[in-house]
Amino acid sequence: MSSDAPDSWPEGVGRRILDELDSTNAAALRTFMQPGEGPFWLMARRQTAGRGRQGRPWQDPVGNFAATYCLPEALPPEEAGLRSFAAALALQEALVAATGRPEGFALKWPNDVLLNGGKLAGILLENGGEAGIGARLCIGIGVNLVAAPDAASLPEDALLPVSVLAQTGVRIAPEDLLDLLAPAFDRWDRSLRTHGFGPLRDAWLACAARRGERISVRIGDRQLSGVFETLNDTGALVLRDGMARHVIPAGDVYFSN
Ligand code: BTN
Repeated sequence: MSSDAPDSWPEGVGRRILDELDSTNAAALRTFMQPGEGPFWLMARRQTAGRGRQGRPWQDPVGNFAATYCLPEALPPEEAGLRSFAAALALQEALVAATGRPEGFALKWPNDVLLNGGKLAGILLENGGEAGIGARLCIGIGVNLVAAPDAASLPEDALLPVSVLAQTGVRIAPEDLLDLLAPAFDRWDRSLRTHGFGPLRDAWLACAARRGERISVRIGDRQLSGVFETLNDTGALVLRDGMARHVIPAGDVYFSN
């Protein structure tokens, strides 16, 4: 096998693909898991009630990608949050491999993947079950492969949504993206478990959009602005505003143009 042959499906990880679900996150959260069962990916060719961050709906027509990685573990919130960096890095890698185009992709804190400055993909983490009883972390990933939602249906200051097809002319089958994403996620997840957040932080920062520029972050009904300096070692966003330094563990980033 040549060294650039695609990675194979990770050992011990399940793969389920359905034609239609309400939401792959909702379905993964309600799936019964046997004690000792390993993690699995659940993909749907179409979602009828996809959900996004902050309770927003996520549109998912046939041809777009919607899948959830379900990890049968209760992780403390700070550790769970780090998994979303593993997911964002893996997704960017899978998209570069699938399109054959390394240029144009970037990451927006905490875990959006951008293409040519527009929002291409989003990630939603949800915890379910109680410690020891069906506990799980669900990492839901949606990618606009063939269609982006109508910008008019989104908040006014949301980034323009884009699709892979419109931006690159490349049509990726959702199953093919899953086959690239699963091994890439497995590698980043192992790196996180073995070496901690450092390697992910470096890799994420190398692809970060608008680093060194002034950005705004909404945290509930507060808004902070400042120059995007870095991520700290817990994945929090660090902004510099004059003499003030804001360390933001969670929020929604807005770019002014
Ligand atoms: C965002 O708002 O940026 C996050 C969007 C996450 C959408 C994905 S699609 C697969 C999974 N199932 C859901 O219902 N949501 C996530």
